[in-house]
Amino acid sequence: MIITIDGPAGSGKSTTARNLAEKLNISYLDTGATYRAVTLRALQNGVDLADEAALLKQAQQIDLKMTPGANGVVVEMDSHDVSEDIRSEEVSRDVRYAANTPVVREVLVDLQRKMGRQLGSFVTEGRDQGTVVFPNADVKFYLDADTDERAKRRHKEQTTRGTDADYDSVRESIIKRDESDKNRAVAPLRIPEGAVIVDTTAMTPEQVTEKLLACVKENF
Ligand code: DC
Repeated sequence: MIITIDGPAGSGKSTTARNLAEKLNISYLDTGATYRAVTLRALQNGVDLADEAALLKQAQQIDLKMTPGANGVVVEMDSHDVSEDIRSEEVSRDVRYAANTPVVREVLVDLQRKMGRQLGSFVTEGRDQGTVVFPNADVKFYLDADTDERAKRRHKEQTTRGTDADYDSVRESIIKRDESDKNRAVAPLRIPEGAVIVDTTAMTPEQVTEKLLACVKENF
């Protein structure tokens, strides 16, 4: 069973995908983590993010492992746990370079499909999962929410994690990322054909999970 969840930053994809996978007793694939990891690796190695050939090399050389952990996915890059580091504001701000570079996307889409094959049945979330990466998925969802609500969620998440983030810069970063995700030439954020659209603005994470679970059950 393949279930895709796409949508903008802060729409509730990660929490919902994780919860839904747990309820269905299948795996969870966080594809944003692949773009974040390449960005982190490039930053650590002092690579110019606008240099496409250099960024491609970072993507080709990356050794990425994702395993389920108590607090979400544990992301290991080149044998180091980078689960926290890939969520920094710096990576969030710069991730658009990897996401907007077609050759990097090609490498990461291959990697995501390979991870999917290894998982068998899974819930995957990102921007292009139902449109490009797994167009034959069994059930597709598109989550959305108001910009302010999404910024509030991200800000709370970062404050809980102990990052000293200020609300206005989190909100600005989300708006910039929306623009970049929706307007890029390759695999822009789009509502997949046949997707169930859910506006999560006024919903709790539990309500979102229950709604999606009900849709999945209807389809099986
Ligand atoms: O879901 P996230 O915030 O971790 O994603 C980080 C960035 O990665 C996002 O701004 C765009 C990019 N991304 C993408 O282009 N395609 C995906 N399938 C997942 C993420």
